[in-house]
Amino acid sequence: MFENKKVLTGVKPTGTPHLGNYLGAIKPAITLGKQALAAGGKHYMFIADYHAINAEKDPDILREKLKEIACIYLAGGLDPSQSVFYRQSDIAEIPEITTILYAYTPKGFMNKAHAYKAAVDKNRAAGKPDDDGINMGLYTYPTLMAADILAYDTDIVPVGKDQVQHVEIARDIAGIINAHYNRPLLTLPEYSIDDNVAVVPGIDGRKMSKSYGNVIPLFEDDKAIKKAIFSIKTDSRPPEEPKNPDEILVYEIYKAVATPEQLREMGDGLCEGKLGYGQIKNMLLDAVVNEIREKRETYRYYMTHYDEVEGMLEDGAAKARPVARATLKRLKDAVFGR
Ligand code: TRP
Repeated sequence: MFENKKVLTGVKPTGTPHLGNYLGAIKPAITLGKQALAAGGKHYMFIADYHAINAEKDPDILREKLKEIACIYLAGGLDPSQSVFYRQSDIAEIPEITTILYAYTPKGFMNKAHAYKAAVDKNRAAGKPDDDGINMGLYTYPTLMAADILAYDTDIVPVGKDQVQHVEIARDIAGIINAHYNRPLLTLPEYSIDDNVAVVPGIDGRKMSKSYGNVIPLFEDDKAIKKAIFSIKTDSRPPEEPKNPDEILVYEIYKAVATPEQLREMGDGLCEGKLGYGQIKNMLLDAVVNEIREKRETYRYYMTHYDEVEGMLEDGAAKARPVARATLKRLKDAVFGR
């Protein structure tokens, strides 16, 4: 599916990623990038720090979050000599392209965008004026995202469901511009949703999310991971009582990290009343630690040698910039009749 395709993934540096983010988004993004490269395509992977400033105004936090995200992607196996790995804010062409896109973007596209609508709904629910606390960065967010995508002639944008609409907006804007100038100035991007990626429940059974306080941490020490895993909700049935594995939360989480054989072992043990909750929690702990052990080492290395990462991001920007510049030139030539 990726033959000679340009694949672009963007990630907002907000929050500290947990195991659910890693297994459900970060790891699959790295895998997709590698598949695109193996199929002769290109992979752009960037950190959307301009998107982050709409909500976060503290430079120390912004710097820390960016650092964390960059190191997590490298630890997860992103290879910056193969993928173009850069910071959005290093590419000055992006806001320039955004400005041109504004002139072709119907305001209604922004009114109906989820991120903005969700903020308005929240205000209404709280009895506040619709636009309370909403800045223009949030309102126009999908146009900046369109520039991120269109700048690199992106064919495919792997996204979660929440971002589908934003990719469609990028495609629509590109279509409007191409139609106006009657030539393919911009590549029409498509989104791709990976249905096979893990949706990891949190330790209380709801979706794993920082806002629910139900996460299994990612690159913390074994003790912190153990603490989270041993707080996973269970009931008081004795070990020898046969249980349906699909009703056991530990088993559900295990699905995201276990091999098929390991999963079968736990499933059979539960059905036959041979495994108790303490045992299955230890099995889950082993599998989680096994999944992250080496990556955690790499993560810690990069966090303490961040100048190396900084160098990689600068090299990435140097590769990304000429592509964005070529798009900008194409647009300016068309728009201003140069
Ligand atoms: N909006 C995306 C998010 O919140 C991040 C993002 C910004 C992005 N620009 C992008 C994702 C371009 C894909 C392509 O997760």
